[in-house]
Amino acid sequence: MENSDAKLKEKIISLKTRKNAIILAHNYQLGEIQDIADFVGDSLELSQKAAKTDADVIVFCGVHFMAETASILSPDKIVLLPDIHAGCPMADMITAEGLRKRKSELPGVIVVCYINSSAEVKAESDVCCTSANAVKVIESLDAREILFVPDQYLGHYISTKINKKMVLWPGFCITHMRIQPQNITALRQEYPQAKVVVHPECRPEVIALADEVLSTGGLCRYAGRSEVKEMIVGTEIGIIHRLRKENPGKKFIPASEQAICPRMKLITLESVLWSLQEMTPGVKVPEEIRLKAKVAVDKMLEIGRG
Ligand code: 13P
Ligand code: SF4
Repeated sequence: MENSDAKLKEKIISLKTRKNAIILAHNYQLGEIQDIADFVGDSLELSQKAAKTDADVIVFCGVHFMAETASILSPDKIVLLPDIHAGCPMADMITAEGLRKRKSELPGVIVVCYINSSAEVKAESDVCCTSANAVKVIESLDAREILFVPDQYLGHYISTKINKKMVLWPGFCITHMRIQPQNITALRQEYPQAKVVVHPECRPEVIALADEVLSTGGLCRYAGRSEVKEMIVGTEIGIIHRLRKENPGKKFIPASEQAICPRMKLITLESVLWSLQEMTPGVKVPEEIRLKAKVAVDKMLEIGRG
């Protein structure tokens, strides 16, 4: 098995060079995908990379909205998503039509969309954000009322940090819902020295028990601090691979072994190789939508990290 993985990796690297491709991978990807990627990061870092790369082809090892964001920012590049079924269930909890209807009920409202949303939804929004900069983005807005879509839990977390009225869309992440407060309480008893770090997509009862609430990129940086020796990790378990690789000797304990994003795991070495060989499946946002969505994404990129 290891041998065939090694062969697959070799083929991917040589094809990637031949096609002037870059492989971008999210922190939740399988370990073997992270290991062949040119860059591994959170949603904000990946969109920043996609905006700047001079590669001709971007192989996006993540979920559909991430590949769409790359296409919004780099329309002249070929963007490949090795498994077209790798969608984010939370992003599918809102449609552009549903958002238009909600906006009509809240005249003049400013819409902030989490990057975990389709290009059509971004096109209907004023500004985009990720978990790394959500508070900073919303603080920067000269508006008293915000409609935040689609993650109610990230929206709720932001509302505890700022002084603005937030109307929340009732979406959520199925994976982060699997992390329960009792998981944290039990692990804290077992590992009393450990820091508890959770993603803001977690439910408020979990967030209330955490030492830090961070994006996946923030979580990786925090793990590198010298005072952190043990960490209870409240997010998707794919990130544990990167944490252990970058911090040998430290202990990382998943808050829940059930916190697996099945769509992220659809991307495999086989599908990456096939995708590069066949140059499919491509993700391309229609120009009319792209131009509108880009306004919201660009505003976010100007603001940067929180
Ligand atoms: P990050 O932007 O923190 O990487 O999160 C992306 C995501 O999908 C979390 O579930
Ligand atoms: Fe979407 Fe949740 Fe998977 Fe992130 S972990 S891609 S929010 S379903």
